[in-house]
Amino acid sequence: MHNFKRFSFFMPGETWIGFSAVEELGRSLIKKRVDRGLIVTDEFMAGSKVTAKVVEVLKESGIETFIYSGVKPDPTTDQVSEAAIEFKKNRCNALISIGGGSPHDCAKAVKYLLVRGGVCEKDKVILAAVNTTAGTGSELTKFAVITDPENQTKTPIVDEIIIPDIAVDDTTLMMDMPKGLTAATGIDAMAHAIEAFVSTERNYIIGCTAMEAIRLVDKYLVMAYNQGDNVEARDGMAYAQYLAGMAFSNAGLGIVHAMAHQLGATYHLPHGVSNAMLLPSCIRYNAAKGCDLYGEIGRELKLFHGNFSPEIAGEKFAGYIARLNKEIGIPANLKEAGVKPEDFREMAEKALQDVCMETNPAAPTLEDVIGVYEAAYKGTTLR
Ligand SMILES: [Fe+2]
Repeated sequence: MHNFKRFSFFMPGETWIGFSAVEELGRSLIKKRVDRGLIVTDEFMAGSKVTAKVVEVLKESGIETFIYSGVKPDPTTDQVSEAAIEFKKNRCNALISIGGGSPHDCAKAVKYLLVRGGVCEKDKVILAAVNTTAGTGSELTKFAVITDPENQTKTPIVDEIIIPDIAVDDTTLMMDMPKGLTAATGIDAMAHAIEAFVSTERNYIIGCTAMEAIRLVDKYLVMAYNQGDNVEARDGMAYAQYLAGMAFSNAGLGIVHAMAHQLGATYHLPHGVSNAMLLPSCIRYNAAKGCDLYGEIGRELKLFHGNFSPEIAGEKFAGYIARLNKEIGIPANLKEAGVKPEDFREMAEKALQDVCMETNPAAPTLEDVIGVYEAAYKGTTLR
């Protein structure tokens, strides 16, 4: 059957991507009639040259800036409230988040609170996201995750109004990323692209963007990891993570993220590392349940030629991911990362409730998910 079914597609109204892209931010905000912006970021980033650069660019355009620097990893409802108060107190009309996923999620939740709470009109809260990693894709998606500190529950917000009005992916801001962060965020982008490619919500545009993202990660992640100052590799990863973000923001994710979220909540492992360790076992599981799309990816990456059964293609593609993980210093299995088998059942129960599971190509049982955790605990024997 052809692939051109009817669908809707959301992405930021304006994106600046590539070397020195942040230079354009002031002009873009002025066009949207912004004159007072609240920068939302974490303490480290607030003192960095990246924030100094953003403040300088905005100042040149005559935009006054205020800074909320209280964002922590896994931002909380308290941080969202604090930032919203700063926004109102300083009579701002833009939120400018700087960083990886957490500041963007916090700023997106502030906009959600102000607009959906009836405090401000949508066009009085312009949202600009300046991304410094490659990448969570948070600078362009309609998702944010906020933690309630009282009961430690994570609440996902899914709403088109929190898609940033302006996304900035400036490669110059990504050049200083340390190796570990390059690996974790880069393989997260790969997980986004793979999960979007096989999602039940997959469509023609998602197929194109996800496949190109996979191709770019294949070409550039190891290079960016080994040579952090390689501009082509950093540019390639910036585009890869953006395309992957476009794909999953519209197609949703799958079993890898549903299971990885539980590793993050239980062990506070970096999100990308959790995804990376689970990817091979999840690919094998979906392939065994009949998902035949991994063969398409494998042929595109020239891992093999010709047609194989879903299981064999899945096995070959899972092996490729395991080798990629090894090259970028990801632990070979969950055991090496300190995960305990006694937690598998509870994590599997929660993974089945995770919104990401809804768009996985196979619908697993509780025992299936426990089985995938067990397989990832053992890892892949590399040949
Ligand atoms: Fe992710």
